[in-house]
Amino acid sequence: MTARLLRGAGGAAAPVRAAAALLALALAAPAPASAADPAAGREKARKCKVCHGIDGIARIPIAPHLAGESAIYLETQLKAFRSGKREHEMMSVVARGLSDEDIADLAAWYSAIRIEAHPPDLAQK
Ligand code: HEC
Repeated sequence: MTARLLRGAGGAAAPVRAAAALLALALAAPAPASAADPAAGREKARKCKVCHGIDGIARIPIAPHLAGESAIYLETQLKAFRSGKREHEMMSVVARGLSDEDIADLAAWYSAIRIEAHPPDLAQK
């Protein structure tokens, strides 16, 4: 019995190693559903454009510009609106309907927009 178990051990280790390798791969590779797609994000941003613009430049004074914001910041804020951690009468409603994939795509789109800052020349005193 013991001898058979010992003899079998070498053979049994291979599938275990293969499973461990697969698990490592699964953990390392992003799930396809959450791979952010900026083109899909641009489509989804139609829902946002009345207020934030499709180009991320706000169209109403109370909405912030989203263009060039980091993806991590955009995702964190959208998830905070969705969970109720951050509240706003408009954004809480908008974010409630977004999946993780929508959020990743929208963040990929808005963060990919390049912006330039032109601070005013202030007269030297
Ligand atoms: C009806 C107008 C409106 C629409 C539509 C809208 N937003 Fe907003 N959004 C706002 C306003 C207003 C704020 C500012 C909230 C506050 O004052 O806390 C905001 C805030 C945000 C913020 C936080 C930005 C920051 O600087 O903290 C993100 C991110 C955001 N919106 C993303 C989106 C996305 C993505 C969509 C589309 C899926 C969307 N919004 C649709 C009005 C809107």
